[in-house]
Amino acid sequence: MLARETTPSAIVRYLDEYVIGQDEAKKVLAVAVYSHYRKIATLRNDQGAIAKSNVLLVGPSGTGKTLLCDTLSRMLKVPFVTADATSLAQTKYANEEIEAALQRLLDKADGNIEDAQQGIIFIDEIDKLRSSNAAAGSSSGESVQHALLKIMEGSPVKLKDNRYIDTANILFICGGAFVGLENIMTRTHGFGFIATSADDNQNILDRLNKRVKPTDLFEFGLIPEFTGRLPVIARLHDLSKPMLVRIMSTAKNSIYRQYIAIFRDEGVELSIGPRVFEQIAELALEYKTGARSLRGIFEELITPILYLIPDNPEICKVEISSLFEDARYFRRK
Ligand SMILES: Nc1ncnc2c1ncn2[C@@H]1O[C@H](COP(=O)(O)OP(=O)(O)OP(=O)(O)O)[C@@H](O)[C@H]1O
Ligand SMILES: [Mg+2]
Repeated sequence: MLARETTPSAIVRYLDEYVIGQDEAKKVLAVAVYSHYRKIATLRNDQGAIAKSNVLLVGPSGTGKTLLCDTLSRMLKVPFVTADATSLAQTKYANEEIEAALQRLLDKADGNIEDAQQGIIFIDEIDKLRSSNAAAGSSSGESVQHALLKIMEGSPVKLKDNRYIDTANILFICGGAFVGLENIMTRTHGFGFIATSADDNQNILDRLNKRVKPTDLFEFGLIPEFTGRLPVIARLHDLSKPMLVRIMSTAKNSIYRQYIAIFRDEGVELSIGPRVFEQIAELALEYKTGARSLRGIFEELITPILYLIPDNPEICKVEISSLFEDARYFRRK
């Protein structure tokens, strides 16, 4: 179902246009998707089932987990739906919500059950299902984990139109910030590998030690059966200042490009100097919400200008060179 030219590197190239950094997570996702469809094409056993490599994306808030999967789903011409674990846990009827997600997958496949059965489901905010979480009128995180486990293992689920969808070959991608996992990992680090001789390749050992272990996830609050269904774990990392600058100014649908288009539509050229982006990035780093606070700071800067522009058609250009200086307006002669 995946086109031949959709190779892992082609997927990464596409993701690169929209998502800055996170190279490791991009590669892992690309290979997971690619091998999923190659397995379906070549490795089906007698029952038609394949050994799946579901993926877990772990990384700090606002660093691109949801963006990565949204971008991936836009690129791939396969049925792809997103379900939010938070909303699954907020209802007493988690099973119905899961069925609804499968129904959406079928809709994305234009009603073709065969195609839907090989689609991809992204379950976001999976860390909100830690077993200690449960509020009145909701399902406990653990019971939702069990409900999800069932479809991840592949059992036929009855849909509204009385048709059955078999989830055995659906690829699951889960994402979550897992706040506090770092601490757990630091504590369990002692059980990792340590170099015992100078010959040991320290890079390989470092990589093994940086891996999130299923036991870490268990300690965080995911049940072992659930972590067992997520054999591939990819980590996203904190964004650096240069990355934040690129996110604002050069990424494909960056906020700067968006506003350049809006201003152009008003007949005005918008020019923002590199220093401004660095200043905004520095503030965002202080706020510690990844790239999430960039838009707010940027819009605060733009709002007073955008307020003026429509009433002053003689303005042809706006130049901003610092976050702490007034904008310069140029008027038509
Ligand atoms: N690596 C990135 N490249 C480009 N934009 C990014 C990146 N990371 C975050 N952003 C921007 O920040 C916003 C929030 O990112 P996203 O929703 O992907 O965060 P998240 O990792 O899912 O966080 P959370 O754990 O809080 O859900 C995105 O809409 C995007 O505009
Ligand atoms: Mg998210």
